[in-house]
Formats: sequence, C-alpha cells, structure tokens
Amino acid sequence: MDVDLSEVDDLTAPPMAAPRRALTTPPDPPAAPVVAPRSHSERADAVAFEGPPQADAPLGPWGHEPVPTPRAPLDVARLLRPRTTATPMVQLFHVTKRYTREGRALDDLTLRIDKGEFVLITGPSGAGKTTLLKLIFAAERPSAGQLLVAGHAVHNLRRGSVPLLRRNIGVVFQDFRLLMDRTVYENVAFALEVLGRSAHEIRQRVPTVLRQVGLGDKLQVTPNRLSGGEQQRVAIARALVNEPPILLADEPTGNLDPALTHEIMALLNQANARGTTVLLATHDPQIIQRYKRRALHLVQGRLVRDAG
Ligand SMILES: Nc1ncnc2c1ncn2[C@@H]1O[C@H](COP(=O)(O)OP(=O)(O)OP(=O)(O)O)[C@@H](O)[C@H]1O
Ligand SMILES: [Mg+2]
Repeated sequence: MDVDLSEVDDLTAPPMAAPRRALTTPPDPPAAPVVAPRSHSERADAVAFEGPPQADAPLGPWGHEPVPTPRAPLDVARLLRPRTTATPMVQLFHVTKRYTREGRALDDLTLRIDKGEFVLITGPSGAGKTTLLKLIFAAERPSAGQLLVAGHAVHNLRRGSVPLLRRNIGVVFQDFRLLMDRTVYENVAFALEVLGRSAHEIRQRVPTVLRQVGLGDKLQVTPNRLSGGEQQRVAIARALVNEPPILLADEPTGNLDPALTHEIMALLNQANARGTTVLLATHDPQIIQRYKRRALHLVQGRLVRDAG
C-alpha cells in the first residue's frame, strides 16, 4: 500500500460536497470530527503531539507521517474510543472513490463492520481492496459518501487529526516495510517511540508482543537475517504493539507459503480474540475457503457479495 504524503495533504481541502444521494441508513450517532478533545488535559495532549509542524522532521516507520516530538504522554484509546458500545467500528455510506475521471476504484459502497469482527475483503486484482483500506486509514479521501471509524467522520477529517486516527489503526502490508538497519526489537519499539510512550513501557511491551508472535529469541537480530514469515511476524508485532482497536492487513500473506500463511492467520486470529477488529484484504482462495469469515467481495469497485 503506497501512502503518499501529498494525498494526506489533500485532507486540508475544504469539506466535500453533500453526498450524491440521501443515505438509506443515517449515521448513528451523527458524524463528528475524529478528535474532539473535551477536557483540558485532552486538549493539552493533542497540542503536545501535533504542535507546530517541523520542517525537517524524520518520517515515521511507514514514511507517511513525521515523527512528532512528544512532550506529554497521550492516551490514544481515550481519543478514539467508540462513542458508544453499540457504535460500529467502520461504516460506509454510499462511498465512491475516483482516482481519475474515467474509472471508479470504489463505487457506491455501503457497509458496516462491528467491533470485534474479523472481515475478509476479497475480489480480483484491481477490485478496490487496497483502496478501501486506504480510505479507512485516511491515506485517501472518498470522492463521495461518508466514512465513519468508531463513529467519527473520516471522510472530512482535519489534517491535524490524521495522525491521531492512525495511532488507533495497526497496518500490515504485503511487503513488510521493516527498517532493515534496525534490530527486531528496535523496529517494534519505534512504533511506540513515535507515540511518546515511556522507556519503561517500551521495555516491557516490546518483548511481550514479540514473544506473542513467536520471536522472543530474535530481539537483537536484524530483519535481513529472518525468513519471510518471521519478517511478516515482526510487522504484525509492530502493528499490534500499541494494541490498536483496528488492524488493517493488506495481502499480508501474499509472499508466503501455505504453512507460513497459516501462522500469520493464527496471529491475526489471536489479535481478534483479544478484541481487535481485523480487516484482511486477500485474493488467496485458500484463506477464503479455510477460514470461514465474513467476506466482502468486491468486483470493479462494487460490493457484490457480503457473506459469512
Ligand atoms: N493512485 C492511483 N491512481 C490511479 N488509479 C489507482 C490508484 N490506485 C489504485 N488505482 C486504481 O483503482 C482500482 C482499484 O485499485 P486497488 O489497488 O484498490 O485494487 P486491489 O483490489 O487492491 O488490487 P490488487 O489485488 O491488485 O492489490 C484499480 O483500477 C487501480 O488501477
Ligand atoms: Mg491491493
């Protein structure tokens, strides 16, 4: 999944025009900005993190987000917790995405994913699977329609709120995207460092999550000395170390053999069992048949089947 900073900059654009047609099911509760700090301390946290932009700040592990200079700990769970327990984790209302005038990468998608679900996003190449994940991650904006994450409007998110949204979403890519000159421990620790977590928490949490993915004995190894499956497990540990409410995985087993695919699926299942909502884009028929999960099947940007 290429995440382009220029697209993120687009989030500063004025709010989009009204949706093309009336919503069949109105958002409940109504859309609101992702981050609406209420208390003084919440405001202080947001300011501490977003601060003034730094011209030469280094990019974060995914290359899309400058590493902020934290000045105060941030309770991200407080900032993007679902507005009520009944609030869906992800909701789309007539969402269309056009990259160009000609085609529609996503075409009038309306769907709902509840907290704790494990959903496969399936469909042939070019169907719009990655595009759907990018919209949820605010790497792209819908051309029309509304997209809510935990009840908060992502379709017209302020640019300053994008990093806060992303701190609540773990992302795993097909090509791992690890820092090859850092150790396994450092790769995972980095995800917490950019959130301003304390050294104490990092020392405790990183080995724990690496043990969970079966890499407790590889902490000081660099990724180039790991197998493909092990590298993907580091990427999953990095995505989960912050215990995000949502995990997006884009073809995470695309380069792996069936045994390693099974290992990775087991890890995603464990994360789901711990309460993380998982969205997994795949066109691997083995996964679709073997793991009986709800599957959203896309063809040419349209949702043609929602089964399971
Ligand atoms: N940045 C872009 N600019 C223009 N068109 C794009 C861009 N990204 C995707 N598209 C187009 O949008 C459509 C959906 O692409 P997307 O990457 O979401 O498909 P996909 O289902 O993830 O495919 P794959 O299985 O090959 O990864 C395709 O027609 C693709 O060519
Ligand atoms: Mg894709």
